[in-house]
Amino acid sequence: MNKSPVVIGSDHAAYQLKEKIKKFLIENGIAVEDAGAQGEGSVDYPDYGIKVASLVSAGKFDRGILLCGTGIGMSIVANRFSNVRAALCNDLFSAIMSRRHNNSNVLVMGGRVIGDVLAIEILKAWLETPFEGGRHQKRLDKFNDMGRSA
Ligand code: RB5
Repeated sequence: MNKSPVVIGSDHAAYQLKEKIKKFLIENGIAVEDAGAQGEGSVDYPDYGIKVASLVSAGKFDRGILLCGTGIGMSIVANRFSNVRAALCNDLFSAIMSRRHNNSNVLVMGGRVIGDVLAIEILKAWLETPFEGGRHQKRLDKFNDMGRSA
């Protein structure tokens, strides 16, 4: 399991899931920085997506986790940042392939789409699966330097 420190963020819709994921990470010896939200009051997902994605983009964290109701908003925000490869994974196969082929460094899930138990299984798979490199690195190199916001 990859034990790099992780920065995590959610909006109100996935706050409860964020708390469960934090607990899992801490119990597994993975340091976690919580970028908010800090409760279930209504907030705007971009505020938290930007915080997490900018820290990963700047290399302050190797990995991030973003959660919102569907995961869609957080994915759209996070993928505007250079060096961020955010993968919306509401199923196990996507999580595994996002690591093997896309070297995803931000895991995104939808707290209103999947249950907590599946979310933890997806997280475990994402933490345990290595990038395959080779032809997949060549493909990443084709768009890694396209000069989006950082
Ligand atoms: C919040 O209501 C919801 O829009 C948000 O959590 C997310 O699903 C956006 O993509």
